[in-house]
Amino acid sequence: MTGSPPRECQLRPARPEDEVVILEWRNAPWGVALSGTGRAVSPEEHGRWFSQTLAGVARRLFVIEEQGRPVGMIRYDVVGKAAVEITILVLPERVGAGLGTAAFRHSLALMAGWRPLRTILARVLRSNSRSLAFFRHLGFAIVEDDGTSSLVRLELAVGGGDDLPPEGIQI
Ligand SMILES: CC(C)(COP(=O)(O)OP(=O)(O)OC[C@H]1O[C@@H](n2cnc3c(N)ncnc32)[C@H](O)[C@@H]1OP(=O)(O)O)[C@@H](O)C(=O)NCCC(=O)NCCS
Repeated sequence: MTGSPPRECQLRPARPEDEVVILEWRNAPWGVALSGTGRAVSPEEHGRWFSQTLAGVARRLFVIEEQGRPVGMIRYDVVGKAAVEITILVLPERVGAGLGTAAFRHSLALMAGWRPLRTILARVLRSNSRSLAFFRHLGFAIVEDDGTSSLVRLELAVGGGDDLPPEGIQI
């Protein structure tokens, strides 16, 4: 671990008031670099996307908080029957402290009961060695590689996390 240990962390579903900070992250230079499109989004475009996201039909968004301050997010997009694609982000100044690992593990509990879930995929740029190491560490395996990015996959055991509370948890 490189960062100081996490303190008083929580993972909770995104709320309407998170719209501003999520847009800020999306349009920060590192957010743009991570995005599939490589461009910033307008507040209007983001507003529409965020409302759909909160509706929670095809996507779920969770915020990682440390001492009440948002420091990251986890997003799951439905990509198939019982399959979702994960996007995870920890603020640059807090990477390497274990937050991503803890948040991912707890996000599975928050996902339980939403819809059947067996497969989690992630698309990672090959140049993003930290992220590849992160997913490998969590048990994801590389299933495709087109030379630029890798598709990693985790198959879940059935029934994991069903006994945990749905509305937000200490991590
Ligand atoms: C990928 C990311 C979410 C990992 O979160 P994190 O909180 O930094 O990860 P953790 O501290 O829990 O680290 C878990 C493992 O990831 C890898 N890792 C984390 N920080 C690393 C670093 N600085 N260098 C190399 N590997 C690193 C290691 O394997 C680490 O295991 P270790 O602690 O036993 O060494 C975070 O680095 C991030 O937000 N990156 C930018 C966004 C991104 O690339 N997202 C993934 C694409 S969806």
